[in-house]
Amino acid sequence: MTPLETLRSRHLWPDQKPTAPAGFEPVWIDGDSVSTIQNVAKPDTKVVLELGSWKGLSALLMLKMWPGCQVICVDTWLGSEEHRHDPKLAADISTLYETFLVNCWDFRDFVTPIRTDTVNGMREVFECGVQPDLVYIDAAHDKTSVIQDAVLAATFFPKAVIVGDDWSWESVREGLRHILEAHDWGYGFNINTWWFGKNAR
Ligand SMILES: C[S@@+](CC[C@H](N)C(=O)[O-])C[C@H]1O[C@@H](n2cnc3c(N)ncnc32)[C@H](O)[C@@H]1O
Repeated sequence: MTPLETLRSRHLWPDQKPTAPAGFEPVWIDGDSVSTIQNVAKPDTKVVLELGSWKGLSALLMLKMWPGCQVICVDTWLGSEEHRHDPKLAADISTLYETFLVNCWDFRDFVTPIRTDTVNGMREVFECGVQPDLVYIDAAHDKTSVIQDAVLAATFFPKAVIVGDDWSWESVREGLRHILEAHDWGYGFNINTWWFGKNAR
C-alpha cells in the first residue's frame, strides 16, 4: 500500500450516505481566494492537506482546480470557537460532519476525512509518510493556533506550498508576523488569502 492508501484505510467512509441536510452555508471561501490558491500552488498539485473543512466547499473547489487530486481533510467537525458561540450555527454543528460527508459523497474516492484536531491530524499524515503538495490552513484563527498550525505544517511538510485563509483577521496576521520574525521565510497575501514558506515569494 502507498502511504496515502494506508492513511485512507484508517479513515474509511461509511457504507451508506448519511441523511444529514446538504448545503454549504455560511460560505467563506470566494472566487478571489480560489484564484490566489491556484496562482501560488504547483500546477501539478496531486495531494492537498486541508486544515479546517467545515461542510466541504473549499475541498470540493480544490478538487475542481486539480481534477483527480486527493484532498485530506482534517477537522474536528465541532466548529471553531466563533461558530460555537453563534446561535444561528448551533444546529448546523450538531450534523456538521454528516453534512460534510453528504456534500463530498460523490468525490469520496478523492477525499480522506480525518476527524481530529489539526495537530494530531498533521502528525498522523506525516507519520504515515504522506507529503502533500499544498497545505491549506483554515481552522482556528486565534494567534496561538495560527502559529501552531503554520509552524507544524512547515516542519512536517517542508516541500509543500502553505496557504491560508482570513488574512483580514488581526489574530491571523499577528500569528504570521510572529513566525516571520523568527524565520527568514517569504510570504505574501492577496485580499483574504496568505501564503508563506522557505521558498515563498
Ligand atoms: C472557517 S471553517 C472552514 C471553512 C472551509 N475551509 C471552507 O471554506 O469551506 C473552520 C473549520 O475549522 C475547524 N476547526 C477549528 N479549530 C480546529 C482545530 N483545532 N482542529 C481541527 N479543526 C478545527 C472547525 O470545525 C471548522 O469546520
